[in-house]
Amino acid sequence: MADQAIADNEGAAAVVTEGDGVRRRDFINIAAVSAAGIGGLAVVIPLVSQMSASKDVLAESTTEVDISSLQPGQAIKAVFRKQPVFVRSLTEAEIAAAESVSLNALRDPETLAERTVEGHTNILVTMGVCTHLGCVPLGAGDGENRGEFGGYFCPCHGSQFDTAGRIRKGPAPTNLEVPEYAFQSDTLIRIG
Ligand code: FES
Repeated sequence: MADQAIADNEGAAAVVTEGDGVRRRDFINIAAVSAAGIGGLAVVIPLVSQMSASKDVLAESTTEVDISSLQPGQAIKAVFRKQPVFVRSLTEAEIAAAESVSLNALRDPETLAERTVEGHTNILVTMGVCTHLGCVPLGAGDGENRGEFGGYFCPCHGSQFDTAGRIRKGPAPTNLEVPEYAFQSDTLIRIG
């Protein structure tokens, strides 16, 4: 019964199109192309809005930090891609402490040299986001608790990071993330 109805409708389409001098197959093709055209439009609009969104992301994807006034032992809190980032100038003692740790003693083994830029191992750049559940660790501000290892201390569940920002104690599984960054000059860092 349903097959019959479809057959009847197809017959009607054939009659109408043939009456207008357009072959039935052409009618079907035109209908298919029109549908594709509408579908194509629907696809293009979200693509355009995605492109403008990624432009916004690109615009804010780098952060420049002037470290000209940063003294050894101090840190700067900046914002990178809407998240806190810490730029810290390590003292000689903090560098020595980081370098004296055996990699075997580390949960996430990385040397200070691997976490910094060659020629600037005294400048540590890390995300200020605990790798446990994302709290902002203490230690970048003056007088803040830097924990047992002299780096950063996460007050949420007690993760402790050393002077290279490496996890030493507590639940955080990995070191504080080091974002991509480069020195534009001796006193200007571009993150991202
Ligand atoms: S979020 Fe930092 S220890 Fe849990």
